[in-house]
Amino acid sequence: MKILAVMGSLRKYGGNYKIVKQIEQKMKRLGKVDFEYLFLADASLELCKGCTNCRHLDNERCKFNDDAGSIKQKMLDADGIILSSPVYAGNMSWLMKNFVDRFSFVQRQPLFFDKYALLVCNSGGAADMDTPLRSLEQAAALLELHIVGRITIKNRNIRKSTARFETAAENFYRVLSSGKAPAPDITKLLVFKLKQHAFSANSPEAAPEYKFWKERGWFEKGRHYYSGAKLTLFKRILAWLAGKVLAKFA
Ligand SMILES: Cc1cc2nc3c(=O)[nH]c(=O)nc-3n(C[C@H](O)[C@H](O)[C@H](O)COP(=O)(O)O)c2cc1C
Repeated sequence: MKILAVMGSLRKYGGNYKIVKQIEQKMKRLGKVDFEYLFLADASLELCKGCTNCRHLDNERCKFNDDAGSIKQKMLDADGIILSSPVYAGNMSWLMKNFVDRFSFVQRQPLFFDKYALLVCNSGGAADMDTPLRSLEQAAALLELHIVGRITIKNRNIRKSTARFETAAENFYRVLSSGKAPAPDITKLLVFKLKQHAFSANSPEAAPEYKFWKERGWFEKGRHYYSGAKLTLFKRILAWLAGKVLAKFA
């Protein structure tokens, strides 16, 4: 299995790395794991200029010719993705935020809906880590990743928390090795139905999305999610109902 750890710290080998390293070591003890670090501090990923080319045209039209393409490929090749960031000024680091901004086109052209994610956040001592964690959760949601674990920790507790990291690593490994396509929760399911409805209109502005979704068969009748993940009867009924309601707003 392939893991890509997206590292949002400005210091390569600080507390953030120490946590993810322990996760790597535990996962490698459990089985064959190919683990790659993507240090955003080293990557050539220009600051998003907000031109919206990637969102409104297609993701190949970004004006920057930097590492975004190779990073996209690394994410596509991975089974599991770790989003790891320290707390900077009460939130995730700007490196992580820029990473998410540069990939925000996947809101319209979902690429990573079949990936599981583990979130890691460390701080110098902030008592409230809800805000940075929520930002990482939003980042994962935007990328359509399926969160299977969350670690928030103060730096001073890293040394004595090996057991916690190992439990998270074990869980991540177990989910990934199950080979099951991630099933959407209700929010993800409804987001799919909303996007399906919005992009099927094939307006001139939504043309790249229309093409992207059409090619993948995501407008087909009875299609309730991107992948063939097994849906419970309740979710199938809910998705069907959502489709019916949305059709009234055509
Ligand atoms: C610019 C900056 C802002 C920070 N803001 C906070 C903060 O708001 N709350 C906090 O608990 N720690 C804060 N810290 C401390 C870092 O979270 C801490 O040093 C952490 O270990 C950095 O991760 P690293 O060890 O991987 O570099 C800040 C550090 C920097 C450099």
